[in-house]
Amino acid sequence: MLRIISLLALAWMLAVPVAAQEAPEDARASTGGAQTLEDILRRQEGISIDDSFRSEVTGNPEAAAATADQLGTLGGASDPDLWRAFRYGSADITTQARVPAATTLMQDGGMWWLEFRQGPLLTLAAILLGGTLVALGVFYFFRGPVMIDGEKTGRTIVRFEAFERFGHWLLASSFLLLGLTGLITLIGRKVLIPVFGHDSFSFLAVASKWVHNNVSWAFIVALVIVFVAWVVHNIPDRTDLNWLAKGGGLFGGGHPPAKKFNAGQKLIFWAVIILGGSISVSGLSLLFPFEFHIFGHTFSILNQMGVLGWFGFGELPYPLQPQEEMQYAQLWHALVSLVLTAIIFAHIYLGSVGMEGAFDAMGKGEVEEQWAREHHSLWADEVLNAKEDPSEKGT
Ligand code: HEM
Repeated sequence: MLRIISLLALAWMLAVPVAAQEAPEDARASTGGAQTLEDILRRQEGISIDDSFRSEVTGNPEAAAATADQLGTLGGASDPDLWRAFRYGSADITTQARVPAATTLMQDGGMWWLEFRQGPLLTLAAILLGGTLVALGVFYFFRGPVMIDGEKTGRTIVRFEAFERFGHWLLASSFLLLGLTGLITLIGRKVLIPVFGHDSFSFLAVASKWVHNNVSWAFIVALVIVFVAWVVHNIPDRTDLNWLAKGGGLFGGGHPPAKKFNAGQKLIFWAVIILGGSISVSGLSLLFPFEFHIFGHTFSILNQMGVLGWFGFGELPYPLQPQEEMQYAQLWHALVSLVLTAIIFAHIYLGSVGMEGAFDAMGKGEVEEQWAREHHSLWADEVLNAKEDPSEKGT
């Protein structure tokens, strides 16, 4: 008998998930409009359900029985109605605190964000950063550094003026500090607390936050300096197509001609400007919580254009509660920073150990003439001609 009951119980348990996929339309009639077991199981499985049967039932004061009537004292909204209105952000709340998030008493958008931040985001960070470092190591091992092919002349030409180098090193030093302190903040709970304990990490976290928040301004200023200094040299042109077609000569294809910046450097430049700009905007919205509502507006525009529909996805959530704005800002800030850091790893490699003579350009501001002729022949011609004939202006 016990065996039969166990078998029946097992069969029921196996049948439930199947039933959960197929909630009949009028299932809620049996619960008087409340959620059903199927709804609960679907939510637990992460399947989205149409919540309108709850979100729209938040009481109707118009339908209230007169207070003098029997049972007529609730004003058209029962306690569950009120809690639902809190839960779906539709309650009419007034407060003396003049900050946007003060009227949000409940928000349920946080769990997926927390889980994503502590799981997939960390995995992605490890893949992106670790993967790029390994790839660069392998590349260095098999290809070795790019050497100057021809004979060195012993003469140098000016590559970057002092203000260009100032802008670059301000950008580089601030970025490295921001990257490090940002990573400490991101992996703190999952990776650093288990290793160092709460007390030590607390000091590290407070210091990282202070450095991160204050150094961000230097990064933004440097981004503007670098943009102003180099944008004219980074407009794409026909030489870039040829350079890209030959893979920049990186795999033994000679030295395709290039101006001051080659196509690879232009890609790095625009990645730094666009991704760095986006990191700055999302960072500012995190630094001044609830002041900028960038994601809600963007999602609404994308929904109106039906952009996600082109790829077979549904609509993006809109409107967002103030806390959800911050959650999206944090995710975007971290994701874009990780992508840019991976790109910058490759840049640092080529600007240091990956290419003979490259570091001097930013270190001393001058490069070996032969290096310039090989890697930036069009620019070198221009500068050397201007040297011989000062009436021609080099850059
Ligand atoms: C310590 C690390 C770094 C080193 C050793 C380094 C090295 C260099 C060198 C040698 C150049 C000149 C290349 C040439 O003459 O053709 C350069 C250019 C540049 N650097 Fe860096 N850099 C570093 C970090 C960064 C960071 C963190 C950023 C941005 C966040 C950055 C952005 C740029 C840009 C936009 C250029 C001009 C385009 C290019 O050459 O790719 N650098 N860097």
